[in-house]
Amino acid sequence: MKTKILTILKEAGGFVSGQDLCGRLGVSRTAVWKVMKQLEEEGYKIEAVRNKGYRLIQVADVITEAEVGSQMNSKWMGRNLVYLPVTDSTNIQAAKLAREGAPEGTLVVAESQMAGKGRRGRSWSSPPGSSIYMSFLLRPDIPPYCASMITLLAGMAGAKAVCQVAGLQALIKWPNDLVINGKKICGILTEMSTEMERIHYIVTGIGINVNQQEFPEEIRDKSTSLWLEGGKRVNRSQLIAAVMEWFETYFEQFLETNDLSNLKEEYEEMLANQNREVLVLDPAGYYKGICRGIDKDGELLVELPDGQIRPVLAGEVSVRGVYGYV
Ligand code: BTN
Repeated sequence: MKTKILTILKEAGGFVSGQDLCGRLGVSRTAVWKVMKQLEEEGYKIEAVRNKGYRLIQVADVITEAEVGSQMNSKWMGRNLVYLPVTDSTNIQAAKLAREGAPEGTLVVAESQMAGKGRRGRSWSSPPGSSIYMSFLLRPDIPPYCASMITLLAGMAGAKAVCQVAGLQALIKWPNDLVINGKKICGILTEMSTEMERIHYIVTGIGINVNQQEFPEEIRDKSTSLWLEGGKRVNRSQLIAAVMEWFETYFEQFLETNDLSNLKEEYEEMLANQNREVLVLDPAGYYKGICRGIDKDGELLVELPDGQIRPVLAGEVSVRGVYGYV
């Protein structure tokens, strides 16, 4: 009911009478009043005027189920939404929900994480107030080797959402980081549960630096936030909803072919490494080359000095710019 009330107030832009709300929701005036009080406690500013009704003056900077839900325009991604003020890791929680039978598209968002997971066993610092920590559940009927492509789709969705909501151009550092001006604003971690040739479920987690106004000295040259890059606060709920909408679009295109043939060109336009020299950190030995985009399976194509093109598989190696992080 809270999501519906917020949606109605936002769409109206002005006063909505208590009677109108009661009629549309089929609840009592007291029930409506109680929700208004809860919203005020969460930080929303709501004006209540006798004979006029309620008017939303200011939206709270929260990523609750009601707030994110009131912004969500997707068909099915993120429609089953779980908000946790504090959790261990949204990836862990989404996997738990998957095992309990949660539907595809289920989204878990948290205000903070106590055990945020990064790639390669690293931790992901997750304090409250300024970031996005979100994980979503997929159950695609695709072979396990295709799962790494989901990370690429999430990167595309993240870049598009950042552009739409913050007006900033984020590029993808293959396979799983988003960067602005050469610094990281977003990391993606895809995990899955499989059995032989079958995927039980995939969980993709996205962490976005949104409204941080500074970073610790040690990571200042590598990390940035949307606030620092754009000079203004960004609405986290709107961004979460936009990521879900774009992901849904890209995922449906992906499912037409079970590969990236429909999306390869668009991905390459977002690729920070495109046509630049990269250093491939292969455990078997480092080598340099020029990044020439991706193939339909999401492998990075690296042109070696002798002109040969070598595909690099996500997950096996990491790639960075020759002169820095990107
Ligand atoms: C990376 O190492 O760059 C990937 C970081 C992924 C972090 C996100 S935050 C939401 C989700 N929950 C986690 O525990 N990790 C991912």
